Amino acid sequence: MTEVELKQVAESQRILELLFSYMPKIAAERQMDNLLVLMADLGRSIVSADRCSLWLVDEESGELWTKVAHGVSELRIPQNAGFVGCSVITGEPLLIKDAYQDSRFDRRSDEKTHYHTTSVLTVPLMDSMGKVMGVFQAINKQGESQVFSEQDLERLKLTAVYSAKTVESAMLTAELEATQREIIHTLGEASESRSRETGDHILRVAEISKKLAEYLGLPREEVERIHLAAPMHDLGKIGIPDAVLNKPGKLTDEEYAVMKTHAEIGYKMLCNSKRKLLRFAANVARSHHERWDGRGYPLGLKGEDIPLAGRICAVADVLDALSCHRCYKAPWPEEKVKEEFVKMSGSQFQPEVVDALMAHWDDIYAPYRVGAEEPDSGDGRR
Ligand code: C2E
Ligand code: SIN
Ligand code: SIN
Ligand code: FE
Ligand code: FE
Repeated sequence: MTEVELKQVAESQRILELLFSYMPKIAAERQMDNLLVLMADLGRSIVSADRCSLWLVDEESGELWTKVAHGVSELRIPQNAGFVGCSVITGEPLLIKDAYQDSRFDRRSDEKTHYHTTSVLTVPLMDSMGKVMGVFQAINKQGESQVFSEQDLERLKLTAVYSAKTVESAMLTAELEATQREIIHTLGEASESRSRETGDHILRVAEISKKLAEYLGLPREEVERIHLAAPMHDLGKIGIPDAVLNKPGKLTDEEYAVMKTHAEIGYKMLCNSKRKLLRFAANVARSHHERWDGRGYPLGLKGEDIPLAGRICAVADVLDALSCHRCYKAPWPEEKVKEEFVKMSGSQFQPEVVDALMAHWDDIYAPYRVGAEEPDSGDGRR
């Protein structure tokens, strides 16, 4: 083999090793901004550039955005700016030897960052419909040559194909999850829309449940699951007649019996779902009025037989009910609410959950303290 051939083989091996080291990291990463940083790092190593970024088209704002490093906030530029914008418009790559000799160069970012760009490589990323979804940009070739080669361009193109697929599927996942969240939220709101409580009640119960779960030290996924399911705890109120649901005064025993069916109704509405999260929410709906001492409803479960998310949601739900205006009651003063939880610890509520509430009272109670006005005042729907 000639010296050149040997160099080529070594270079191919280096790239193969790079790919093998990055692929598992990329495959495991679900957070879009972290993905962009990882793939930019990969691109930079593959073509030996000083800098590399992966820009994505933001359809809504007409901008390109990127993330250059973990923890750094995102950068945004107009969709038609510089070499990157040029690749977005034409769908073609660019191989530039000296940026300052090219009229398409946008000097503003150099000026802003006190950097001197010379050689540039841009490669568009196509989505599965053949539309440009972003651009890889590598800047300043490192090593002897100082300029990118045709081979660098080919390699960045291959990386771009792989990156486009990864980004596209990450976007789909994000979209799906956002859709799921929205459905869950809409369902939760539907349960409140008929009663005079505002939809804010479900948001606050979700937030409080999440905080309690965090303070109890539950794993991140469990915290998130509880956060997502809590808004649906009163979904079954959809099945309660208006005369009972919105009755201004105290319920009669019969009316209260009707009201109590909301826990089981909510469960039945969700328990046959194909979605695991909704089946989880079904159990929260059914268990949020159980009591630690076994005197709750609908099943009269006791202690740890009650699903943990239900035990947490019970505390959050009552905290919100006592602190806010309801059609049947005025908000309680803070001290009285606090006393009630101390009193009910071990009977209505699991002591550990009440302990978590007490230990972080100021943080959890904060939403009820803003101004003199209590959150549920007025009949304003958002
Ligand atoms: P909600 O308003 O979301 O209240 C949730 C839970 O907070 C109640 O569950 C109860 O455990 C607690 N809670 C609310 N107000 C008080 C209170 O003044 N004192 C005490 N100790 N706890 C309170 P519960 O009792 O199973 O009620 C479930 C739902 O039934 C309530 O949800 C509300 O929509 C309705 N409800 C309960 N009592 C009445 C009432 O007297 N009149 C009307 N119109 N509705 C009521
Ligand atoms: C009732 O027994 O009528 C409901 C009591 C409550 O508000 O907790
Ligand atoms: C889901 O991800 O919601 C479905 C999984 C399952 O059915 O357990
Ligand atoms: Fe309820
Ligand atoms: Fe509630």
